[in-house]
Amino acid sequence: MRAKIIGTGSYLPPKIVTNNDLAKTVETSDEWIRERTGIEERRVTDENTATSDLAVEAAKKALSAARLSPEEIDLIIVCTCTPDMLFPSTACILQDKLGIKNAAAFDLSAACSGFNFGLAVASGLIENGAYKNILLVGADTLTKYLDWTDRGTCILFGDGAGAVVLTATDKEEGVLRSYLKAEGLFGKYLVMPGGGSRDPEAKNGRQIRMAGKEVFKFAVRVLEASVEKILEIAKLTPADIDLLIPHQANIRIIDHVAKKMGLSKEKVYVNLQKYGNTSAASIPIALDEALKEGRIKSGDLIVLSGFGAGLTYGANIIQW
Ligand code: COA
Repeated sequence: MRAKIIGTGSYLPPKIVTNNDLAKTVETSDEWIRERTGIEERRVTDENTATSDLAVEAAKKALSAARLSPEEIDLIIVCTCTPDMLFPSTACILQDKLGIKNAAAFDLSAACSGFNFGLAVASGLIENGAYKNILLVGADTLTKYLDWTDRGTCILFGDGAGAVVLTATDKEEGVLRSYLKAEGLFGKYLVMPGGGSRDPEAKNGRQIRMAGKEVFKFAVRVLEASVEKILEIAKLTPADIDLLIPHQANIRIIDHVAKKMGLSKEKVYVNLQKYGNTSAASIPIALDEALKEGRIKSGDLIVLSGFGAGLTYGANIIQW
């Protein structure tokens, strides 16, 4: 038994914040941000919108594309590091909003690596026969946790949600292999310190703190390593990849890895110029857009690969 994606959907909040908008409040410029990250603009939620509000829109589109009714979903996984609240989980809130009755639901926390971790978990649960139809969502609203005076972080992130519906298939297609890894000793390089049980009143702040250079070095190393590893596990080579969908964090990280692997621009999907880094939503949004732009066809080999706080990283290889 394998798990196959039969529907995708994505949702971005309407408000656009451009690099020039940011340059009005912090010492930066459109030119610097484009050159050092590739980002041109990002989407930002308003104060009344929470992660589940984005997730529900993406999920509805994925369900409709999959031609499944809510009753047919038997598990919901929401990958997020910005849940609506500590509990109930955002997955349970989403379940209620979608009117899904016959399902289990839980959140998965692996920050920007969330979707790759979620896809590995969901496909494993389908492969072992525990579930048939799974709604898997990556959704985050990291802009709510930015220090808008820190030019090293506030330029990078945006909000969004992406969703897929997975179903069981007995054909040799869908998610073929997964590879997940964490290096907790580097966790200190990307932290949101306040709000958890160590500091419930968030005396240490509820804003993202990042050692940009360290995370950059880590990202370059592990993006390449995770693609190499997943190819090795699947007994494939870079030449077999039809499309690489990397985590959309920084164009320099993506270009470096594409060059090392000998992948041409046509074989690497990039949309970070429009949305910045949307955390767990970045890969499912990119997958949805790549599909709608005709960049993926039946039988293609797609590699999803990313990294995030933890520090974590991983990859999945899919036969479409
Ligand atoms: N605008 C203008 N100048 C900026 C700036 C900005 N937004 N941010 C930093 N700078 C300055 C720095 O202060 C530094 O100035 P100095 O030389 O006078 O000290 C200079 O630019 C170079 O800073 P540096 O940190 O070396 O820049 P960089 O090329 O490493 O780019 C990041 C910074 C954050 C863009 C980059 O490190 C990065 O993308 N890291 C990975 C982040 C990431 O992906 N995080 C999410 C993981 S899921």
